[in-house]
Amino acid sequence: MPKHIVRLLVLLVVLAALFAAGKRFLPPHSFWAYGHYRAASVEEIASATPKIRDATSYAKVFPKEYAVWSDGIHKVVQCQVCHMAQAIGPIPTTASAARVAQAAAGIPMPYDSLKLCVECHQRIAGRPATQPQIVVSTHAQGKQCTACHNPHSPLTSPSGGPIVLASVPGGAADVGAGKAKAAAVCAACHGASGISTLGTFPNLACQKNEYLSGALTAFQSGGRNNPIMSPVAKGLSAADIRNLAAYFSGLSCRT
Ligand code: HEC
Ligand code: HEC
Ligand code: HEC
Ligand code: HEC
Repeated sequence: MPKHIVRLLVLLVVLAALFAAGKRFLPPHSFWAYGHYRAASVEEIASATPKIRDATSYAKVFPKEYAVWSDGIHKVVQCQVCHMAQAIGPIPTTASAARVAQAAAGIPMPYDSLKLCVECHQRIAGRPATQPQIVVSTHAQGKQCTACHNPHSPLTSPSGGPIVLASVPGGAADVGAGKAKAAAVCAACHGASGISTLGTFPNLACQKNEYLSGALTAFQSGGRNNPIMSPVAKGLSAADIRNLAAYFSGLSCRT
């Protein structure tokens, strides 16, 4: 055999030996335990710090917001749904750090609630009726949703009290007082949730605020007359009318 062929064969044998040795010694120990994978990576991944966290991760950092949130109707919406950038990377320790983190991530701030809340609450024909929906333009009247709703517990005001319709002509309405008055006086005929059970008594739930206060004022002044309703209206103060109109107009049209 010529010399150069022998050298080539020796070189090939050496390479094959190197390859076999590499294959024997280089792969990680747990390789192929469950097929073509490194079995130990499962434990490694499981022990890594998660980048997306659930609400309980924030309980220590933001105890006040966490408490309000876990007590309210929005506890079905995880913090990171509204505070996206806060959920990625280290948890900012202060609200101002959170704002900086969000700005840096180029993600819309939850501080523009007219963009955020509308994603889930704008009335859309295809949206399931079980999701509370409003017509944003008439409901919010150009205001931030957070002017009236606490984002962490939206059935309360930002300060924790009842939600107040501040934009009613003639002054602020107290929805809580309207609700109490309605339960005491109106529920018997118009239903506990503003939906009446008798055909001769109109529904009041989700009727327009201005229409309701207009109708009540008309019953008072005699501009509109009804033997059953007029005497009831005459017993109401101007504040009662504001509060009742705010309360009924805010109720859902569903049952
Ligand atoms: C439905 C959306 C939503 C959810 C869910 C939500 N937040 Fe918020 N959060 C907001 C909005 C909107 C603001 C801004 C409020 C404002 O500007 O008045 C805010 C503000 C904050 C602030 C700043 C308060 C301040 O004084 O500046 C903190 C802290 C906070 N949220 C923590 C949390 C934590 C913790 C959770 C989960 C337990 C959570 N949020 C869940 C919407 C949400
Ligand atoms: C990711 C979707 C989502 C976002 C964003 C969101 N909500 Fe909600 N909201 C819900 C769900 C779901 C419910 C119903 C919870 C239930 O019934 O248990 C709800 C309930 C409510 C209710 C109570 C309605 C009722 O009649 O019971 C109000 C008010 C409300 N949200 C206001 C807001 C405001 C204000 C914002 C913005 C700060 C906001 N929501 C952002 C999903 C969302
Ligand atoms: C001027 C004050 C005010 C503003 C601004 C406002 N709301 Fe409301 N909202 C109310 C009141 C009052 C209710 C009735 C609360 C009740 O049922 O006790 C209400 C009720 C709701 C409900 C429940 C409706 C239902 O049929 O169940 C949703 C959802 C809601 N608001 C979302 C929003 C969103 C989203 C925004 C911002 C786009 C917003 N609101 C802005 C005062 C306001
Ligand atoms: C004893 C039964 C009764 C009670 C109590 C009662 N109403 Fe009425 N209400 C009626 C009847 C009946 C009508 C229909 C009047 C008509 O056809 O003009 C009516 C009509 C109305 C209307 C006009 C509705 C429309 O679609 O035009 C408003 C608003 C109203 N009631 C509000 C109230 C409020 C607010 C209360 C509680 C303070 C109340 N009512 C208590 C029986 C009652």
